[in-house]
Amino acid sequence: MDGDSLLNVWDYQRAAEERLDPGAFDYFAGGANDEWTLRENIAAYARWVLRPRVLVDVSSVTTATTVLGTDVSLPVLVAPTAFQRMAHPDGEAATARGAAAAGTVMTLSTIATATIEEVAAAAPTGARWFQLYWSPDRGIVRDFVERAVAEGYSAILLTVDLPVGGRRERDLRTGFEVPAEVPVPAFVAHERQAANVSPTQIGQVVDSSVTWRDLEWLRSLSALPLAVKGILTAEDALLACEAGADGIVVSNHGGRQLDCVSASLDALPEVVEAVAGRAEVLMDGGIRRGTDVVKALALGAGAVLAGRAPLWGLAVDGAAGVQRVLELLRAEIELALALCGCASPADVTRAHVGRAAT
Ligand SMILES: Cc1cc2nc3c(=O)[nH]c(=O)nc-3n(C[C@H](O)[C@H](O)[C@H](O)COP(=O)(O)O)c2cc1C
Repeated sequence: MDGDSLLNVWDYQRAAEERLDPGAFDYFAGGANDEWTLRENIAAYARWVLRPRVLVDVSSVTTATTVLGTDVSLPVLVAPTAFQRMAHPDGEAATARGAAAAGTVMTLSTIATATIEEVAAAAPTGARWFQLYWSPDRGIVRDFVERAVAEGYSAILLTVDLPVGGRRERDLRTGFEVPAEVPVPAFVAHERQAANVSPTQIGQVVDSSVTWRDLEWLRSLSALPLAVKGILTAEDALLACEAGADGIVVSNHGGRQLDCVSASLDALPEVVEAVAGRAEVLMDGGIRRGTDVVKALALGAGAVLAGRAPLWGLAVDGAAGVQRVLELLRAEIELALALCGCASPADVTRAHVGRAAT
């Protein structure tokens, strides 16, 4: 199958499954325990319907918006995902190039298979954010943040839903590992990459004792906007606002951490209500269609992040595949906006969605 015959994200997922080693595919596709939350992340979109408005001037529709001060050409950013060289030999560098070509942000994971500098050099003009796992060694946290600032990353996303690694049974079954010859800089920094790296080791490079009080120190390291990724409750959204977070990412880590938490889309309204405009609210989880994005915007997200969708593009065709998946999503969003009577993402309101009939 060539790229032109792949018409949507689901096509890319099937093509990626054909290309990838089964262990790698399962690592990217899988979730925690019974994968209930993983399925819910998708199912939640079907519980809402769009409520289109007609006879609105949609002769000129834009998908562009601004997120944490970064201009993007569509309200979909690339979420941080680990070990991208296991999807394609060009890994994170290709994702950065694909995102830049599509005019959106690439968020680099701490657990990447490329360095902060390599990813910046791969797409110097592209917008990039850095996702932080808080190391048990504060010197390493400081080093990551300072390097991100020096290399032109324009926001820090602190992931807070992984104080310890979730239990991903697909990985336990397949024994998926990143071979020692593919360096994972975060593990090298912790002097933990003498051999292959397994996803079950991620907890080793994260400090499970970090609390809200520590955010002040993190904020003191740079002037970059700080978003907290992995919030699912109004209670924590309030604490994030009190801690001065500029952004909140409603997320359950793509169903890979605590199973049996609600779909991100279901948690979004309570977070939006609690935040009441004091921080930007983003969300991720289950984005596969432009209509998913419009539903999330209608429920109060400023923009969304997509994890697996660009990964499938990367697996199929490197940077070009990432760009194409993002362009497909952009075309779907543009069409859905026009058909909903919205000339831009800012025009989408709560009245543009309603509960689906059961
Ligand atoms: C293979 C894979 C690796 C991930 N690695 C990270 C990571 O290193 N850091 C992080 O904050 N989130 C990580 N995530 C979570 C994503 O950032 C995002 O929350 C999730 O993928 C969104 O769901 P979606 O894949 O349905 O779009 C990962 C997700 C996947 C699928």
